[in-house]
Amino acid sequence: MSSQDKSEVPEEHLPEVHASAHVPAEGDPFADPGLPAHEPRVTDIDEKAAKRAERQVAFLFVISMLSTIGFIWAYVGIDKRRIIDIFFFGKIGAQNLALGGFLGLALFCIGAGAIHWARTLMTDEEIVQERHEFTSDPETREYAIREFTQGAADSVIGRRPLIRRTMIGAMALVPLSGVVLLRDLGPLPGTKLRHTDWKPGVELINEATGLPIKPDDIVKGSLTMVLPDGLVEKYGPAGQKEELSHGWLEKAGMSAVLVVRLEPEDIKSKKELAWGYEGIVAYSKICTHVGCPIGLYEQQTHHLLCPCHQSTFDLADDGKVVFGPAARSLPQLKIHVNEAGNLAATQDFTEPVGASFWERG
Ligand code: FES
Repeated sequence: MSSQDKSEVPEEHLPEVHASAHVPAEGDPFADPGLPAHEPRVTDIDEKAAKRAERQVAFLFVISMLSTIGFIWAYVGIDKRRIIDIFFFGKIGAQNLALGGFLGLALFCIGAGAIHWARTLMTDEEIVQERHEFTSDPETREYAIREFTQGAADSVIGRRPLIRRTMIGAMALVPLSGVVLLRDLGPLPGTKLRHTDWKPGVELINEATGLPIKPDDIVKGSLTMVLPDGLVEKYGPAGQKEELSHGWLEKAGMSAVLVVRLEPEDIKSKKELAWGYEGIVAYSKICTHVGCPIGLYEQQTHHLLCPCHQSTFDLADDGKVVFGPAARSLPQLKIHVNEAGNLAATQDFTEPVGASFWERG
């Protein structure tokens, strides 16, 4: 601000020097620098500028109001199935675009108006608020101690050690009730999550037909979902034991397996080859990321894709993760052909199925 300008500034808007800036405490090597001198803004000294700022703030608020009306119009007036093609962004739902745009503009204008208002018109004087002592004054402390001592004397707790000790015991034990209630968060899973209904000799049952599977039923390129024999009868929705049917999803989720046929020479891992039957291999259907059911198989690459977060597993290489957030391979189920010529499990899975979360415990 020039000296010419300063001569036109009203007295009350001239910069003032805070007294605290010049009063260093005696013996204090670090003098309080105080606050910088207050500089008036152009809107403090020029009524025209203040009016202009007022109109700008009001303009932003009016834009916000119109945007809100636009939002309501977009909600009722734009067909939600209408798609528009926007350069760079591609195809977008017109209603969603309008709703987001209007709401964003309405909120932005309220924020921008409030900031502009605060920076141009609200008082901007620096204010000092002195911190108070946190401790009470000596009289108050003395009073509290006196009251406490008097209360203790009135309760005769000093002369009644039996009451004192039992009361301390009661107060120490009462939080245990809350600890015991934590048990209701259980029962603890124990090793339940490490085992499925696959056991040695349990046949693979086609989930679609409900029948056992023979090796010739598995054709190259197809994906067959199977469950352990007996699972549907025991836990299925149409199971005879009604009280058990609520465990169906949990059981089916744990034990669901996908069976595919690969060319034996395409299988890179000896262990995978040995755990299958002439190129037929069985893997858990449950993604090791967070447990979605997997169902997309790419025959050429032997990749299995989880639709939830795109984890991709290589079925020709021990079910290893080749892409995505999953942290470990899909567990393989060891299978063989039994005397009846049906595919059957040789053993349970040797590692937990489903989300890797369980392994971190
Ligand atoms: S659950 Fe499969 S990738 Fe996330």
